[in-house]
Amino acid sequence: MISIKSDREIELMKHAGYINYLTHLEVKKNLRVGITTKALNDIAYKFIIKNDCKPSFLNYEGYPASICISINDEVVHGIPSNRKIKNGDVVSVDIGVEYKGYHSDSANTYIVGKTSKEVEDLVKNTEKSLYEGLSIIKDGVKISDIGSKIENYAKIHHLGVVRELVGHGVGTSVHEDPDVPNYYTTDHTRLKKGMVIAVEPMLTLGDEDIYVEDDDWTIRTEDGSPSAHFEHTVLVTEDGYVILTKE
Ligand code: MF3
Ligand code: CO
Repeated sequence: MISIKSDREIELMKHAGYINYLTHLEVKKNLRVGITTKALNDIAYKFIIKNDCKPSFLNYEGYPASICISINDEVVHGIPSNRKIKNGDVVSVDIGVEYKGYHSDSANTYIVGKTSKEVEDLVKNTEKSLYEGLSIIKDGVKISDIGSKIENYAKIHHLGVVRELVGHGVGTSVHEDPDVPNYYTTDHTRLKKGMVIAVEPMLTLGDEDIYVEDDDWTIRTEDGSPSAHFEHTVLVTEDGYVILTKE
């Protein structure tokens, strides 16, 4: 069942989204060569708590940290640790924020220091693919059209589209119905105004194949190619959408 949010719920989700956005800014401000991913996690945790919110991911299905930090060939769900950020790292930061029982989910990818033009384009085009997917959203649109837009954009730029992980509804749980794949499907479910979904393309410089590491969380590309991830939580409206995880 896909929930339709009331005006009150939308207000709470807007606040959860805004704190999520501000948390991203805090992490970004501190992201540099030599900092550990654990230190970044702790900065996010403190900021979220200080703002009377909770980190949605902490203890979610046993996840042991507040945010996910996934580097280079890590696609998503990297667990913060004592590992230090290095020059040229591609760092994806995924944050969930809960306010009064309502969640927001958002991810950004940064390049720290210098890398190749190819990797720069991967990051730029993954972000663009997110906005391509979002661009068609409004009441009545087929959810599968979002994935088609993202997949087409990725194909034009010769990027792999990770298929095992998909976007999702967001509300009283960080993952709700519907699934929002980043590729073409024959699903005919339509968006309605008042739905809130997270759209989150994960693109790679190589193949789409992934595997789960021994820690049972970290997801990596099978071929070792770098990957980027961008995500926004958006509210569907009559004639468009509102990004909740932005200023
Ligand atoms: N942000 C992830 C998503 O977009 C969820 C992280 S799940 C966690 O679906 F378990 F790592 F918290
Ligand atoms: Co998500």
